[in-house]
Amino acid sequence: MSPMSSSNNNDVARYFDTMDYGPAPESDTDAREWLARHAEGFGHFIDGRFTLAAEGAHFDTAEPATGQRLARIAQGSAKDVDAAVAAARAAQPGWFALGGHGRARHLYALARMVQRHARLLAVVEALDNGKPIRETRDLDVPLAARHFYHHAGWAQLQEREFADQVPLGVVGQIIPWNFPLLMLAWKIAPALALGNTVVLKPAEFTPLSALLFAELAAQAGLPRGVLNVVTGDGATGAALVAHEGVDKIAFTGSTEVGRLIRTATAGTGKSLTLELGGKSPFIVFDDADIDAAVEGVVDAIWFNQGQVCCAGSRLLLQEGIADDFIARLKRRMQTLRVGPPLDKAIDMGSLIDSTQLERVRSLVATGVREGASCYQAPGALPPGGSFFPPTLLTGVQPASTVATEEIFGPVLVTMTFRTPDEAVVLANNTRYGLAASVWSETIGLALGIAPQLQAGVVWVNATNLFDAGVGFGGYRESGYGREGGREGCYEYLKPRAWAQRKPRADDVAVVAANEAADARNETPLALPAIDRTAKLFIGGKQVRPDGELSSSIFAANGQRAGEVGTGNRKDIRNAVAAARSASGWSSATPHRRAQALYYLAENLSARAGEFAVRIASLTGVAAKAAQAEVDVSVSRLFAYGAWADKYEGTVHVPPLRGVALATVEAIGVVGVVCPDEAPLLSFVSLLAPNLAMGNRTVIVPGERHALVATDFYQVLETSDLPGGVVNIVTGPAAGLVRTLAEHDDVDALWVFGDKALSRDAERLSVGNLKRTLVDHGLATDWHDLASGEGAVFLRHATQVKNIWIPYGE
Ligand code: NAI
Repeated sequence: MSPMSSSNNNDVARYFDTMDYGPAPESDTDAREWLARHAEGFGHFIDGRFTLAAEGAHFDTAEPATGQRLARIAQGSAKDVDAAVAAARAAQPGWFALGGHGRARHLYALARMVQRHARLLAVVEALDNGKPIRETRDLDVPLAARHFYHHAGWAQLQEREFADQVPLGVVGQIIPWNFPLLMLAWKIAPALALGNTVVLKPAEFTPLSALLFAELAAQAGLPRGVLNVVTGDGATGAALVAHEGVDKIAFTGSTEVGRLIRTATAGTGKSLTLELGGKSPFIVFDDADIDAAVEGVVDAIWFNQGQVCCAGSRLLLQEGIADDFIARLKRRMQTLRVGPPLDKAIDMGSLIDSTQLERVRSLVATGVREGASCYQAPGALPPGGSFFPPTLLTGVQPASTVATEEIFGPVLVTMTFRTPDEAVVLANNTRYGLAASVWSETIGLALGIAPQLQAGVVWVNATNLFDAGVGFGGYRESGYGREGGREGCYEYLKPRAWAQRKPRADDVAVVAANEAADARNETPLALPAIDRTAKLFIGGKQVRPDGELSSSIFAANGQRAGEVGTGNRKDIRNAVAAARSASGWSSATPHRRAQALYYLAENLSARAGEFAVRIASLTGVAAKAAQAEVDVSVSRLFAYGAWADKYEGTVHVPPLRGVALATVEAIGVVGVVCPDEAPLLSFVSLLAPNLAMGNRTVIVPGERHALVATDFYQVLETSDLPGGVVNIVTGPAAGLVRTLAEHDDVDALWVFGDKALSRDAERLSVGNLKRTLVDHGLATDWHDLASGEGAVFLRHATQVKNIWIPYGE
């Protein structure tokens, strides 16, 4: 070994002292060449090629890190959207007809294409978004490739795994600027894999990776029209949402725009998934590995400059460790490097744009005004771009602006808690529910907290882990639907049996049944003798309606069959309150719920004769048909008793040392509005899956034959269901749907019946973004197993929470 000179020794000593990195820039030559080839401006990518914008409008995009002009982008008009939808529509039948294997080969080719062009994609993304190349290279691009691989697999298996489903058709997808390529992959991979075609609208700040992807995909042989990209701003997005030829909208972005889209699509029959904002808690217990948790925080809030929907932006510390934790965190902040995105040695790049920079600045100022103390990592910020330093706000009150609003920047707020219960209350004290992170070395504590958190993803001793096989999506106002995994596939499919539903024709079922009865020379059964006024059923008791009003129910022969109470807003509110307080049902064991359902079935069976008479007299169907409806209803209760402990989660094995537990959780309080047809069977078919999965319900029976549902009180009263689990409010559906839709303590709303009811349910549920299942006036054949029973209802009665548990040293 040669002796070192003393000057070498000094250099080494100096480097060890400062541990400074020199600049390590990634080359942008290829990316600049690609941009130069499109210097005259990008068109939209429609039907397999770049096309000029129909109305010729363009805008410039800039590099966030320097403010310099980057590209000239077409502003999509309604005409452009129309052309793209037409191309997608024309391509869809052929694309589906390719079959699972055919599509799998294309998806596989896209995955390989992303890998082959990984460097170019990573550089374009860093230039366009301002995020560090280290992140685009190591996370965005490889995860995008993984999404195409994973979904190539679902395409291959589609005919077997989703045999009872069909694709939706043409899907409009609108994505934000924070993970442009990755969001493209999350959106288009499942849509294309399962036989849909796509019109994608990237964010106006970051359209480049989508345009590059579309260009490369065409070169890789993706058939024309299968993937179309229309660029532009919110107006272009709104035109896509409004287009009648679109069967589904999948959106990721702000909660505000999510609400606009919910309103715009209400009643149109378009299906909708929303992946919206968050204010995710990062909970550290006093027995956590503190240094690991500090690293976790860095990843949770300073990854991607904090512009992450699931960023761990609320740090909740157990009191005993708070001071030590904050001190260590501040020390760590001093070593974070903010710099140009193409420098491979930086931790944080630029925010997306000066408007976002201003928004973050102003929210931090508000935080300080509201009493928080602000600490920012020292060090000069690069000139020119939209840089903002890693920022920590301590002394924050739970109700303050910065503790409740999504900042969408590198700003962390901290609060303390004393007990695990307090941690859960604080963590759930938000209208959002996207993600949560729990840190404790006590496995029982961490896994005990996870189910109590209202969030679609929970990371145990980790944060920001993602995989194509593990569903991602929110609870509450973070939106609905999942991306990734099997549950993500269902967002791009619909049951084959439902695809054949026809608009509900008045009395079709009755007429058909009567014709059958005539043919057999049967006479409908007689009206039961006793005429009484049925009350409402709330909190396990029969109660008078608030307004003391009732209305008549008529039998099929025109005679008055009885009276039912006319429920109003106050009755719904009481019913919802009763359902809210019956929360024990949601944590009851599946075995317990199964037992309750079997017992309901037994009690219904014991009264089968009475119900058959009632159904026959009210609807006019023949005795046999009425008896059959009761028999199927009993069987349906048994079926959901069976499902109760069999519809359960999955253990995923993502590419890390550990597992992700996809657990199936109840949604909470579900409003259910039943149709008139098959009054007992439709009522049971909509109630039972909710009971099986642990939801508490407020049910509005079909108006015309509501006495069937009020007869059911006796079945409920002799059951062992806790009071408040099933509440029944009779009355005019239109008003009751509105009250249920607007009620913030109702978590989901199922509406079957008139088309206008579906529209109201979707439109008015926008307040707390409740999940909806509506039939748009299409009649369901409740006797048919494929249409009226099973997994489709169970999926809507639950939400999947993925609990990530990495393990090992
Ligand atoms: P945004 O929600 O306005 O934009 C997301 C996408 O929606 C873009 O492609 C945009 O062009 C499109 N869009 C806008 N208005 C539309 C409309 N009326 N109809 C259809 N599409 C429309 O988000 P923006 O303005 O870029 O950011 C604002 C705030 O939203 C951020 O500060 C952040 O708080 C939040 N945000 C949250 C994201 C998330 O992943 N949760 C992603 C992006 C933003």
